[in-house]
Amino acid sequence: MSYPIPPHPGHRFPPGFVWGVATSSFQIEGAAEADGKGDSIWDRFCRVPGAIADGSDGRVACDHYHRWAEDLDLIAALGVDAYRFSVSWPRVQPDGRGAFNARGLDFYERLVDGLLTRGIKPYLTLNHWDLPAALQDTGGWAARDTVHRFVDFALHVAARVGDRVDAITTHNEPWVVAVLGHEAGVFAPGLRDRRTAMQVAHHLLLSHGLALQALRAQGCSSRLGIVLNLSPVFPASDSAGDAVAARLEDGRLVRWYMDPLFGRGYPADVWEALGGDVPQVEPGDLAAIAAPLDFLGLNYYSRSMVRASGPFDVHTSGKRLTDMGWEIVPECLTELLLRLHRDWPLPPLVVMENGAAFQDRLHDGRVADGERIDYIASHIAAVGDAIAQGVPMAGYMVWSLMDNFEWASGYAKRFGIVHVDYATLARTPKDSYHWYRGFLHVQQRQRAAETVGAPAPVQG
Ligand code: FCB
Repeated sequence: MSYPIPPHPGHRFPPGFVWGVATSSFQIEGAAEADGKGDSIWDRFCRVPGAIADGSDGRVACDHYHRWAEDLDLIAALGVDAYRFSVSWPRVQPDGRGAFNARGLDFYERLVDGLLTRGIKPYLTLNHWDLPAALQDTGGWAARDTVHRFVDFALHVAARVGDRVDAITTHNEPWVVAVLGHEAGVFAPGLRDRRTAMQVAHHLLLSHGLALQALRAQGCSSRLGIVLNLSPVFPASDSAGDAVAARLEDGRLVRWYMDPLFGRGYPADVWEALGGDVPQVEPGDLAAIAAPLDFLGLNYYSRSMVRASGPFDVHTSGKRLTDMGWEIVPECLTELLLRLHRDWPLPPLVVMENGAAFQDRLHDGRVADGERIDYIASHIAAVGDAIAQGVPMAGYMVWSLMDNFEWASGYAKRFGIVHVDYATLARTPKDSYHWYRGFLHVQQRQRAAETVGAPAPVQG
């Protein structure tokens, strides 16, 4: 390929830095009713007319449930250190309470062992949004009982594979579940109520903290964390109103999660602005949420621009946009990482998702996705810039291994570095896959050279 490798020759990634690629269960597995799997809230949401842009659903998706071995071979050939995947809760516990489904657990055991055989570190996410629909019927994340159901689920999964996975993260992007799922209503379960959304956010955080405590008490050897969607928030103009709105949005998106995770409780300004919509918090909840993190995962795609009234028009900013209409601003990733480092006592940070959708064309067995290569390379460089300025970065993962079900956007938005033909389910590595592979190869050579050239350890 004719693309430069690596992005900035001056960047050095620390020894042990983990390079990876990511997916999630509902987006790739399909096999929605196979081997005793129960319905998730996303299976159900897809049946709501108009909920998914192209009217599609996750019944087949990439059929990863049956093609997992081929997919793991693609991951192995890529040369990554780690693969991030999620466990479908209704596949392993169809009703979200009571009996576990052995065949569902067997699938994840095969997956984990298949990764280990190929020399890839498993990074397991417990909740990437596909809550058992049966739990929604008893209140879903708005019900405090779901917190305890989640802890049981976490313990059960860890009892089965926790000795073989490198890392376990509890939730993926609690803000998205709370706000897009329960306030904006554009994601499952499709509710529109701010108070419910804030209660959901609290229960997600609480279940995260209680799960960490319970997993540690059970002797789980994996490193434990959570994955937040963090964007730097900017006012769209220098008006006082936009500045106030941006500060509040930063509170709701970033500080609402970061502050309690680091023992500071909920941010006072957001609490006050919520008025009667504040969540019910019981004694001991905040202490549980602040359970120490072994690492913090963050997903980064773009910045967030805020106006006091009306939405910000991204087309006026002069920035290039992805097919999602998200501005391409890698420098904002560096800025975000520096801010996190400045404002909170961070554990090692891992970028758990970063990538872009573009209108790819498969032509003669090739997808020439140079824009995606530029996107990934410039964001890896942005991580390198943050490392050079002292941010404790421990890893970076591309979203996504392959094109998949992009939630309310359906299959039209392609994020993969591997192309999926949804008619035949054939996988074709795109140019970005080949680029990332070349990049990783250079990193490995550099690592090996550094190990060989390192001074011999001093004898005591
Ligand atoms: C993130 C999700 C992930 C994927 C990307 C594009 O918010 O965690 O599943 O859909 O966006």
